[in-house]
Amino acid sequence: MLQPPPDTDVCKAKPFLRWTGSKSWLVKEHITKFLPKKFNDYHEPFLGGGAVFFHIRPQKNVYLSDLNSDLITTYVQIRDNVEKVIEALRLYRNTEEDYYQIRAMTNKTDHCKAARFIYLNRTSFNGIYRVNDKGQYNVPYGKREAVDILTADNLRSVSEILKGKNIFCESFTAIKKTVSKNDLVYLDPPYTVAHENNGFIEYNSKLFSWDDQHKLAELLNYLNKIGAQFILSNAEHLAIRKLFKGLGDFYSLSRYSKVGGRNKTRGVFNEVIITNIK
Ligand SMILES: C[S@@+](CC[C@H](N)C(=O)[O-])C[C@H]1O[C@@H](n2cnc3c(N)ncnc32)[C@H](O)[C@@H]1O
Repeated sequence: MLQPPPDTDVCKAKPFLRWTGSKSWLVKEHITKFLPKKFNDYHEPFLGGGAVFFHIRPQKNVYLSDLNSDLITTYVQIRDNVEKVIEALRLYRNTEEDYYQIRAMTNKTDHCKAARFIYLNRTSFNGIYRVNDKGQYNVPYGKREAVDILTADNLRSVSEILKGKNIFCESFTAIKKTVSKNDLVYLDPPYTVAHENNGFIEYNSKLFSWDDQHKLAELLNYLNKIGAQFILSNAEHLAIRKLFKGLGDFYSLSRYSKVGGRNKTRGVFNEVIITNIK
């Protein structure tokens, strides 16, 4: 089984965002049994809050990506410009008035964009990422009084762990450019086939479509062909089982979720892991 790296300061780096669909529950309870003994490069093309990346802390070449450009700007700025991000975050206060002012701001520099992104993530209602048709963040104030807006030590540790890592804003299919035999790919797409009430889960202004799930199945087929190792998280649903049949082994997992803060989506959900790792 894969051994975690020694417990240095850098290794204390923890996810710094609240993220819808975060796999912190998977990391706590299950992921270790799916990880391969050995792998070369590491790829995580639906990065979000990066729970699995922060857990594994891969030492070799790492490729992290996501289609959310504000999210990726934030990761890049923490990697390259962490002190400026911290400096900008220090100016922000957790009050309703400040929240709506900061939400309405357009930042000129990338480090200020990153600070604003972290601030809104921490202080908004449930940390949801949601934008309107114009691409403007439109989540209301969360009224969370006890929140730490600035966790400077963790941001510095995250910066260290991200040094030398490749971070891109691109769709998941782009990993074909870099993935090779024996690499490990962890994939955690938005779940298109949402649960009982057919309530889709929103991450970007565009939802992950069923056509995207087909592209994902094609990608797994490609990874099998080149001999790369993958672990895919997905919704436990007949349509998903049918689409991904023959591409890997299936494992059902249960979890409690309060996705998106809408009461109707709270409850116990079943998810599936599909992997070609034996
Ligand atoms: C379930 S979340 C990932 C959560 C992450 N594993 C964590 O622990 O926080 C799915 C992510 O996929 C991203 N996404 C949606 N469509 C995408 C696409 N076509 N290509 C790459 N990323 C996409 C979203 O922006 C979102 O961050």
